[in-house]
Amino acid sequence: MKLSTRHLLSINDLSRKDVLTILQTAVSFKEISERPIKKVPTLRGRTVINCFFEDSTRTRLSFELAEKRLSADSSNIGKSGSAMAKKGETLLDTIRNIEAMRPDILVIRHSAAGAPAQAATATRAHVINAGDGMHEHPTQALLDLMTINEVKGRIKGLKVGIAGDILHSRVARSNMLLLKKMGIDVIVAGPPTLLPVGVEEVFGVRTCYDIREALPELDVLMLLRVQRERMGEQFFPSAREYARYFGVSNESLKGCKDDLVIMHPGPVNRGVEITADVADGPRSVILGQVTNGVAVRMAVMYLLLGDGPSE
Ligand code: CP
Repeated sequence: MKLSTRHLLSINDLSRKDVLTILQTAVSFKEISERPIKKVPTLRGRTVINCFFEDSTRTRLSFELAEKRLSADSSNIGKSGSAMAKKGETLLDTIRNIEAMRPDILVIRHSAAGAPAQAATATRAHVINAGDGMHEHPTQALLDLMTINEVKGRIKGLKVGIAGDILHSRVARSNMLLLKKMGIDVIVAGPPTLLPVGVEEVFGVRTCYDIREALPELDVLMLLRVQRERMGEQFFPSAREYARYFGVSNESLKGCKDDLVIMHPGPVNRGVEITADVADGPRSVILGQVTNGVAVRMAVMYLLLGDGPSE
């Protein structure tokens, strides 16, 4: 089995068939993480380099564990301690030097949109985008879809709300592309200043300012963090005001479907976009998303490499 794409830089790289293959493969890999000995020889002899030039907890650890559980040889470089950060080396020179050591897969997180795509021009390895600026985070969207399929038992015909800082969110972008590709209705909500201009036309989603308007029809509600580190200016008056008007609490969930599921890609800002009672409540599948992240990343690496050697 193999994907129709050489790299995973964007959800647009994947066909519907690729997506279904990844989900199916991830389900079978998930079982490995439940074993006492969490290791299979599937990627023995393959080399994966994790290049995390921007902070990460979940994605970085998830890729590292996925590589170890498939028996790949993996190494890490980060933003601190790299020649790029300290000695003025460019991203492309860094990638060319990594390429000279013949890796099979590069996993790249970078604060600049398009950095993984640029890196892909300088290596024969398969490149996986692990989050690039405000652009995309495709493996996050795939693990979100796996979680939706797992808890709902289906994909088609569902309605998913994505609420919060849509403008700065690569998770929202990848999810809008993926959910629409797979026939899911998407409603995005947030303060007017945090909804991208033209989002309805570009992504084929509906918009509203207050997610409570759409709540009764939703099967899944995905909440997003306000990305203050990407804001050069004030998009709303204060965190307290944001929490009051746009944050989700058990009180604001009144009127939702009995089986509404709450998701969040993390990191969670408790008391801002989500209250603790919702984050830790019975509707929350937030930690289930993290568990599925390892399985999805195992599946993506396995399927990118396919059965044959790298070119
Ligand atoms: N969801 C996510 O990308 O989290 P990290 O930034 O911790 O990797």
